[in-house]
Amino acid sequence: MVKSPMKKDVYRKNFEERQDWYQKAQKDSFRLKYHIQPPMGWLNDPNGLCQKDGVYHIYFQYCPFYPELGSIFWGHMTTKDFLHYEEHEPALYSDTKWDCNGPYSGSAYQENGMIYFFYTGNVRYEGDYNYVTDGREQNTILVTSEDGFAFSGKQLLMKNEDYPADMSRHVRDPQVFRENDRYFMIQGARSIQDEGSILLFESEDLIHWSYKLRFQPGKPFGYMWECPNYLKIGERKFLFTCPQGVPRDDYEFANVYQCGWFSLDYDFKGEDYRLGEFHSLDRGFDFYAPQVFQDEAGRWILLGWMAIPDSGYEEPTLAGGWIHALTIPRELYVNEAGLLCQRPLKELEGLRKTAVKGTLREGLNRETSPCFELKILMDKAAGEFALKLRESAVLTYRDGVLRLDVTGCGSGRTVRRLKVEELWKLQIFSDTSSLEIFVNDGADVFTTRVYDSMEDLRISLEAVELFGDWEYYSFE
Ligand code: FRU
Repeated sequence: MVKSPMKKDVYRKNFEERQDWYQKAQKDSFRLKYHIQPPMGWLNDPNGLCQKDGVYHIYFQYCPFYPELGSIFWGHMTTKDFLHYEEHEPALYSDTKWDCNGPYSGSAYQENGMIYFFYTGNVRYEGDYNYVTDGREQNTILVTSEDGFAFSGKQLLMKNEDYPADMSRHVRDPQVFRENDRYFMIQGARSIQDEGSILLFESEDLIHWSYKLRFQPGKPFGYMWECPNYLKIGERKFLFTCPQGVPRDDYEFANVYQCGWFSLDYDFKGEDYRLGEFHSLDRGFDFYAPQVFQDEAGRWILLGWMAIPDSGYEEPTLAGGWIHALTIPRELYVNEAGLLCQRPLKELEGLRKTAVKGTLREGLNRETSPCFELKILMDKAAGEFALKLRESAVLTYRDGVLRLDVTGCGSGRTVRRLKVEELWKLQIFSDTSSLEIFVNDGADVFTTRVYDSMEDLRISLEAVELFGDWEYYSFE
């Protein structure tokens, strides 16, 4: 994507001139009904997620005039209930010398009524550079806000020279948190030896930061880690990140870039820490750069980018003037096996319009509109089945393998598989052009875009040895 600077007044002028484009995007037939999507143009990572005085602020990497003009902004939406969203003017622009090629991803930290946004100011030099070890600045920038709408001036906190000497020019996506009465910041990184890691910095005042250590597994795992997140549920600590450059291993790491979590054993004092195994957060085709935050009720909520960079799929929405979306909001919890799981946020029950329920013994075969939720709860672990979900998306379970086939409607997406020894629950969210399939209460999830004709949408189940109940909710 081309990146050129754009200040607020230039954005406004361009936006005014492109009202027809905006209207076209709003009316596209693949437009999602209950997901965050760009008002027009391009969207990628969720940024700065927070809740302030009851209002959830969702910022995102936003390139409204893509592909015509490549400037990136922090787009901005708010919601009080995750059912109704309000669209706002972009929050951050590329208007300083520290972020002139885009305010890249970052996150929010709140204290004493103030929101502190930390993000990466991207600067890309013109010239003959490789842009890995040269030609690029990755500046760590702070802006503050009391309400999520009005922002302070930008303050440069760290630049290339402040990162460890063996880092390439790829250090970005800060997240800040507090432990042991001190502030910590993590950043995604690529070293000059092409090893991905999460860098940890510490501070006493949120302004002055010093490097402490890097989180890395025993052996190298990819060349770059993007978008790190730290979270703590009870006493369990976790690190999320998006490693790039991990080779495919049979069913594992099937996408071009990965996204997952490690459990973290660390007291944020000395140098000793232990990372658990890497667990992929998603098994579908379209999930990357998730961000987590704790809301005012203490829930850990995740929103992800429903796409993967460089995936090479065709995106039919581009003809409609827009591309990509965020996932539905999901609440994180730790299950009995100690796994970090995702379940759809409770608020989404508010989408349900009509309900139909039945038993699996009686079967399941019905027409559907594109926007629905389907829950299948099995009395005992599932035997074999094939579940057709829309026009041509099919989920099958056989020999302990759950297989999603979207070849017929995936615009280049084909098949993904997951080993599931005991399958007892499925919860499926379908929107106009997306599917999110929660397996065993979110121990695994398949997230994917689908582009079927929407003319002959049907849910049908063929099963051997499947006992339990289903619930279908239409959202329209
Ligand atoms: C992840 C990412 C981030 C970066 C942003 C730029 O998708 O590459 O690392 O900050 O997107 O848009």
